[in-house]
Amino acid sequence: MMLEVPGAAMLEAVTLTKRYEDGVLALDHVSFAVKPGQIFAMLGANGAGKTTAINLFLNFIEPTDGEARIDGIVTHKEPLLAKQRVAYVSENVMLYPNFTAVQNLDYFARLGGKTGYTKDDYRSVLLRVGLSEDAHNKRLKGFSKGMRQKCGIAIAILKDAPAILLDEPTSGLDPKAGFEFQQLLDSLRTEGKAILMSTHDIFRAKEVADIIAIMNNGRIVMQEPASRLLGQDLERLYMQYMAGHTAAEAVA
Ligand SMILES: Nc1ncnc2c1ncn2[C@@H]1O[C@H](COP(=O)(O)OP(=O)(O)OP(=O)(O)O)[C@@H](O)[C@H]1O
Ligand SMILES: [Mg+2]
Repeated sequence: MMLEVPGAAMLEAVTLTKRYEDGVLALDHVSFAVKPGQIFAMLGANGAGKTTAINLFLNFIEPTDGEARIDGIVTHKEPLLAKQRVAYVSENVMLYPNFTAVQNLDYFARLGGKTGYTKDDYRSVLLRVGLSEDAHNKRLKGFSKGMRQKCGIAIAILKDAPAILLDEPTSGLDPKAGFEFQQLLDSLRTEGKAILMSTHDIFRAKEVADIIAIMNNGRIVMQEPASRLLGQDLERLYMQYMAGHTAAEAVA
């Protein structure tokens, strides 16, 4: 577990705010930073604003106020430059159902300008994300949610971007796959990736993340290095923050 990582932020939210057209304030002046070699986990209720934050980094939506930066690049000002530096796995990975796993990897790698990958590269990255070999040349349409998620993660790894965004990456994974995914995140951190993820898995967040943020109603109500939460019952803390307690009340 890393304590202090020197250097500049790779992912940065600066008073990031989003009010949707219908008036919903989904994100309310949220600020945080993720450095290379760090994993930042966002916990929070349904509707807390986690996906909104991730979508702002991807420039899928524009901020109402503040900005999201990737490697210092403001995503809504230079979206193409910013996109080159980030890989993304959505909650419901959408790939080509009639392509095999390997064909999907090849297609998306080429789309991202990576033409040098070989069959062996695809095989090893699929094994790295835990997709068994008998599935590599099967069509995606027969895959379970977790198998599709593994393919999405493999595509993100092949992009080899310095920043990785993961929206509920473990939601479709069985316990063994969830454990393996934790080890995969560890190895990506060691490679120096900056990882921003949303999750509902309090237990795994505490195991794998360097910084844990709890979000509620578009705000970060708690942001702490995981090392400072080691002896604490994070589930209990979470429940207290969700009930609207302040930081002082929650740790008392
Ligand atoms: N396209 C949209 N138009 C209007 N409101 C939206 C839109 N997308 C999200 N919202 C609203 O913004 C708020 C935050 O939603 P968001 O999807 O960011 O939450 P979340 O933390 O990812 O939740 P979950 O844990 O369920 O995935 C919610 O109130 C939601 O209804
Ligand atoms: Mg979400």
